[in-house]
This record gives sequence, C-alpha cells and structure tokens, in this order.
Amino acid sequence: MFKNYQVGVVNSRIRALPKGHRTSFRVISVTSGKGGVGKSNLVVNIAIALRRMGERVLILDGDFGLANIDILLNLTPKVNINDVIEGRAQLRDIISHSHYGVHVLPSCSGILGIKGLSQEAKSRITEELEGLDFEYDTLIIDTAAGIGSDVIWLNSTADDVVVVATPEPTSITDAYAMMKVLNQQYKIKKIKLLVNQVKNQEEGLKVYSRIAEVVDRFLHLGIDYVGSVNFDGNLTEAVRQRHPVITGEPDSLFSRNIKDVASSFHRDREDLVAMEAKGCFWQLVADAV
Ligand SMILES: Nc1ncnc2c1ncn2[C@@H]1O[C@H](COP(=O)(O)OP(=O)(O)OP(=O)(O)O)[C@@H](O)[C@H]1O
Ligand SMILES: [Mg+2]
Repeated sequence: MFKNYQVGVVNSRIRALPKGHRTSFRVISVTSGKGGVGKSNLVVNIAIALRRMGERVLILDGDFGLANIDILLNLTPKVNINDVIEGRAQLRDIISHSHYGVHVLPSCSGILGIKGLSQEAKSRITEELEGLDFEYDTLIIDTAAGIGSDVIWLNSTADDVVVVATPEPTSITDAYAMMKVLNQQYKIKKIKLLVNQVKNQEEGLKVYSRIAEVVDRFLHLGIDYVGSVNFDGNLTEAVRQRHPVITGEPDSLFSRNIKDVASSFHRDREDLVAMEAKGCFWQLVADAV
C-alpha cells in the first residue's frame, strides 16, 4: 500500500479487498536522523534476503541528492527518477533489474538534492507507484538522512517506518529527533527501530531500551524493535567490490542478522496476506487509519 494522503487517492489496500486474493505491496521506509548509519547497505541486503524468501521486491532509492543503491548493486542505469520528474519517462521505464532478482527505481546524484521535490513531482511518483502495486510484494524505500521534506514525505507514505540508529550517542539522539518529528508533526504512529553496527545483540537491545523509554515518556508512543545488525569489518571491502555481503558471505554474523530482520518483515507480510484472504476488512481499515 502506498499511502497518498496528499493527492487524496483511496487507500489501495482497502480498494484491493473486493478482489479477494490479491494483496497490494507493503511499503517499508528505512530512515535515520544521523547520516552514515548504514541505511543503504541494510536496504540492499534486506531486499536480497526478502527476495530469497520468495518476495518480489522493489527498492526506491529515495536519496534524491546522493543516490547510491545502484552502486551497491553494481547497476549502471541509463535513466533514473529525474527522468520521471522531468516527464521524459514513466516510473515503470526506469526499473533496473539487479543480478540478485531485486528491482530498483534508481535515483540520481547532485541534481534534486537541494531544492527538494515539487508537490507535482511527489504526486506523479505516488500515482505511478500505485500502478506497480500488484507487481511487487514489498517496496523498500532508502531515504536520505535527516528530517528534510522529501525524507518526511517518503516516510509518511510507508506502512512501516524503520528508523536506523547505531550505538553512538549522536545517532541515538538523532533517531529520537526523527521519531519526534514523524510522530508529533506528521502523526505517524507505527515506528520501528533497527540498531546497526552493534558489538553484540545485547548492545542492540540496550540501545532499543534507551530510545523506547524516552519515546514512551515524552511521546507516549510504543516503538517496535526490528533487531540489531552486528558491525562487520568486511562490509567496506564488499562495498568496494560491489557484492552485497549477504551474497558473498551468507553465513557471516552480519548476514544472519540481516536474515533475521528480513524474516520478521516476511512474517508480517504473510500475516497480512492471511488476513486479507480471510477478508478481515475491518481489521485492515483499522490498521490503515
Ligand atoms: N553493520 C555494519 N558494519 C560495518 N560497517 C557498516 C555497517 N553498516 C554500515 N557500515 C558502513 O557505514 C558506512 C555508511 O553506510 P551507508 O552508506 O549504508 O549508510 P547510510 O545511512 O545509507 O548513509 P547516508 O546517510 O549517507 O545515506 C559505509 O562505509 C558502510 O560500509
Ligand atoms: Mg544512504
């Protein structure tokens, strides 16, 4: 489901229900307050893990100023989101197919970053994404860092907003700041936390407890814990060689952590499909509002 509050399109998941057995894609945005916490690498590896679980996965590179999903997946797209925005292509035309079965809507570097997307561009992207709805099971959006307007817009379109933090104090405070903006200014209630670059899983849980406690006390909001991903010294080399770790080192701790995170998303998806198959209309309506 790609929510489109701004242009007033009816929620597609609800609209899909009368058809009975088709489920629209679920949208996950991966975001952070602080930059460089690992969003893009997590997105690529989680997407591949989900693909290996049988899902049809599309990544939207939502870092419109400094795109790099194409680099991480060793793609050289000839067209990108800028061509859609400027009317030279449709979103469908820019889909790039990676070697790993994951499809990508590539972005561009250095063109769109400063001014941000116009309302018209946002509406066009939203409408065209809705057209791809039943072709994918999951759309994962890799956002830029920070609380810029494009980032907040992308997060507001997602079913699940996953905020990434690392154990660094600056990252923790920035993750809280992001959650505060999402919740207080944009009324987003379903927020998840993923802790990256941890020494061990215990450290990840501690970061979650600290953030969850502050969010509960000051925002009166519960956040879900997606899990933690260990620091992996091989990641830099994998990026240099443009081979996602999960493909080159599938048994590493990093890859196992990624598979655990992807499994939890996959289970959510299966629950949703089961619920729709049973025709739990009112439950879906309640979740969607
Ligand atoms: N679990 C990890 N272990 C080791 N290094 C990591 C891990 N996750 C990310 N990194 C490293 O952190 C750096 C930033 O990663 P990445 O580009 O994915 O972050 P980002 O949050 O997308 O950054 P930006 O905010 O600039 O978009 C990279 O050098 C990457 O190799
Ligand atoms: Mg990034």
